[in-house]
Amino acid sequence: MAVKEAPKEIFLKDYKPTGYHFDTVELKFVLSEKKTTVVSKIRVLPRNSSESPPLVLDGRDVKLLFVKINGEERKLEEVELTSRHLTLKSLPVQPFDLEIGSEIHPETNLSLEGLYKSSSGMFCTQCEAEGFRKITFYQDRPDVMAKFTTRIEADKAQYPVLLSNGNLIDSGDLENGFHYAVWEDPFKKPCYLFALVAGQLTSRDDTFKTRSGRDVQLRIWTPAQDVPKTEHAMHALKLSMKWDEDVYGLEYDLDLFNIVAVPDFNMGAMENKSLNIFNSKLVLASAETATDVDYAAILGVIGHEYFHNWTGNRVTCRDWFQLSLKEGLTVFRDQEFSSDMGSRPVKRIGDVALLRTAQFSEDAGPMAHPVRPHSYIKMDNFYTVTVYEKGAEVVRMYQTLLGKDGFRKGMDLYFERHDGQAVTCEDFFAAMRDANSANLSVFLRWYSQAGTPILTVSTAYDAAARSYTVKCKQEIPSTPGQPVKEPTLIPLAVGLLNSKGEDMVLTELLDGGSLKSLKDTAGGPAKTAVLVVDKEEQEFTFLNLPEKPVPSFLRNFSAPVRLVTPTVTDDDLLFLLAHDSDEFNRWEAGQTMGRKLMLDLIPKAQRNEQLAVPSAFVEGMRRICGKGTNTSWRKRTDGLDGGCRSRCSTYCPKICDKRACVETEARFPENCEYRLIVTENRSSDPHYTFDHKNKARRSLKNLALGYLCSLDEADTTELALKEYKSATNMTDQFAALSSLCQNPGDVRDEALANFYEQWKDETLVVNKWLVLQSMSDIPGNVKNMRRLLDHPSFDMKNPNKVYSLIGPFCRTAVNFHAKDGSGYEFLAEVTLQLDKMNPQVASRMVSSLSRWKRFDEGRQSLAKAQLERIAKTDGLSENVFEIASKSLA
Ligand code: PHE
Ligand code: ZN
Repeated sequence: MAVKEAPKEIFLKDYKPTGYHFDTVELKFVLSEKKTTVVSKIRVLPRNSSESPPLVLDGRDVKLLFVKINGEERKLEEVELTSRHLTLKSLPVQPFDLEIGSEIHPETNLSLEGLYKSSSGMFCTQCEAEGFRKITFYQDRPDVMAKFTTRIEADKAQYPVLLSNGNLIDSGDLENGFHYAVWEDPFKKPCYLFALVAGQLTSRDDTFKTRSGRDVQLRIWTPAQDVPKTEHAMHALKLSMKWDEDVYGLEYDLDLFNIVAVPDFNMGAMENKSLNIFNSKLVLASAETATDVDYAAILGVIGHEYFHNWTGNRVTCRDWFQLSLKEGLTVFRDQEFSSDMGSRPVKRIGDVALLRTAQFSEDAGPMAHPVRPHSYIKMDNFYTVTVYEKGAEVVRMYQTLLGKDGFRKGMDLYFERHDGQAVTCEDFFAAMRDANSANLSVFLRWYSQAGTPILTVSTAYDAAARSYTVKCKQEIPSTPGQPVKEPTLIPLAVGLLNSKGEDMVLTELLDGGSLKSLKDTAGGPAKTAVLVVDKEEQEFTFLNLPEKPVPSFLRNFSAPVRLVTPTVTDDDLLFLLAHDSDEFNRWEAGQTMGRKLMLDLIPKAQRNEQLAVPSAFVEGMRRICGKGTNTSWRKRTDGLDGGCRSRCSTYCPKICDKRACVETEARFPENCEYRLIVTENRSSDPHYTFDHKNKARRSLKNLALGYLCSLDEADTTELALKEYKSATNMTDQFAALSSLCQNPGDVRDEALANFYEQWKDETLVVNKWLVLQSMSDIPGNVKNMRRLLDHPSFDMKNPNKVYSLIGPFCRTAVNFHAKDGSGYEFLAEVTLQLDKMNPQVASRMVSSLSRWKRFDEGRQSLAKAQLERIAKTDGLSENVFEIASKSLA
């Protein structure tokens, strides 16, 4: 057995280019479950012709069979082999051929990384970030880009379909019932974009004509019975291809584009060149089995992976610290795509809600890291909401600062400079800056500093001078390893409303002493101004304002900050809720009011006082639902996006005391005529259509139904049962079931049993059934969780099952945080069991304990004890070790 190497922390500052380029790679796979052989033949180009440094190849769980240099075999006793590396010395200084024979064992690979056997029977690969080293010995890093040719041999009956990247250049039969296929990818790529699939698959085929007139074959591969469920995904793919041409002028660059759906996949999907591999749940959909949320997720992720072809594949990352270069940018692109296909404000509201709940808390915890991290032990642990979602906000800020046209110019320059290269976040920054001759230097701090900036904004109106002063102060909290922060560049989008609720025209701005005239991007009068806040404290003064405005700050959430507005009153918020032309900020005003209300009610509930909701707020919510009487309000609200109505009608009850929550919800249904909303928004058309209008209608109806059911009265239960039974699509059926499941009792139990009976053969629907039970606040649910671990529908080896049953449980207040520690103990047990099979998924689970320092005293010690138990377990994976140890530090 080779020498075992200890886990090692890797640092950005240590980056060095390799001593050897790989020019071409020919891979040959002979597939079989127990033992697959891989032979790779690499054309190696030494960087320097006067010396030959050691060539260090990565490799894990790979058995070395032979090494040949220019056809000559090296004695295995002469090469250096450890549990992680194969080091070759005394190499030629001229270009040479390196041939390596190796052996792997797909059947026992439960990590779902490298080459593995899916439960559906197919062979499948996952190489990002560092999985290629589990296939063969290689320089497994993204700045090593080569042209790949892949030959696959396998049993023809068991594996009739053989796929890899690029174009099929040869195929045929072999002896013993085997056959082969040879694929050639004309684009050079890092090995993390390599993919191979072999199995019994059927495709839905279509074509797309690019704007330069090339026909591209599109194929989505699944087991035969699932082909009918790929219609939406195919539609989404064609929309994506068209959108990237229209918005960025980017065309697809090969004649074939394949997507494969696999039921066992650690992540959402993977952008392998011309062979995207998807978690089935992000491909398969039918009206009966998938919800509006699923349909929207499929659209977004199909877009995301497709867009990676340019942002990620054609231009890739120099090293893994630059991950946000491709992910932040591609998330931004998929967000914009989804906005254009549906409702822009609804999409924005959802994205910001996710950023705040998941990313802001990550940024305030022990795993806080910058968009570009400084170090890692396991890269898998840095596929985070910070790199993805905050990274997308950073990209969005360029667009807010430079305008849509300026941003496009920056993108064009980025591709012009870097097509075919592996680059850094500075390269992206420089393209944006240079294309616009902009001065943005402080902006780079968004990449290097962790923590969510707190932006405090206060105002003063001077009636005599007709001026309005906006005073800004920014502060970035300290995070692990970064006690002191520098101010960053924050684009603060501001609108000012007059007493009629209209946007005032912003003409002149006094900015730190200099006078600027304001225009919108088309040169017309400005209604939103973007203030560039780049100092710790700063003042801006708007001139020529005839009356005191109501300010609308951070429109469309123009920067990922926590906004504090000491001078904004409740009346201002209600006014914004009614009138703001920025629909995001209308929602925001309602949320802020709702949160204030809850925070006011909780202590009252705890003191057993009478609870009352201010009538102004009730009236505001009534109007949002279209039930208001005030006509000027009405006009604004009639024009409000339907989906926004539904979003605006939710008022963050999560944070609240149960009684305050229930009583507030109880008053709303009465006052807001929620029963009427349910009946009015019921569809008479049994045919399901996934479009914005229908989605918005279903969403408002189901929201109202949920609030009604929180009353737990006979007639509300009856209404929900009726909705459940008459539902003709999964969106409505599942919403009704969720409403019923809020309240413990026979009705809930029977509905759950009925749902399972109906859908037990549809694994993706059964996952929803698991989610519903695991997220339950019904006391003592840990018992039920243990029972479900043994349920035939659960399988620890399948990440979707784990994400459905364990993930949501860890977000529950009552049961995960049970006072006796049973929730934490449960999680620790599951994590340790899971870690032996799939460390990536195990480490995602253990993250739920990492914020233990925020728990109350009793819970702190219970959670800490479980983390310690995990950390000291023998044979722990590096993945879980990194999270557990950093959480305890
Ligand atoms: N690169 C993938 C994406 O975001 C995510 C992924 C990372 C998938 C690592 C698998 C493994 O599109
Ligand atoms: Zn991505």
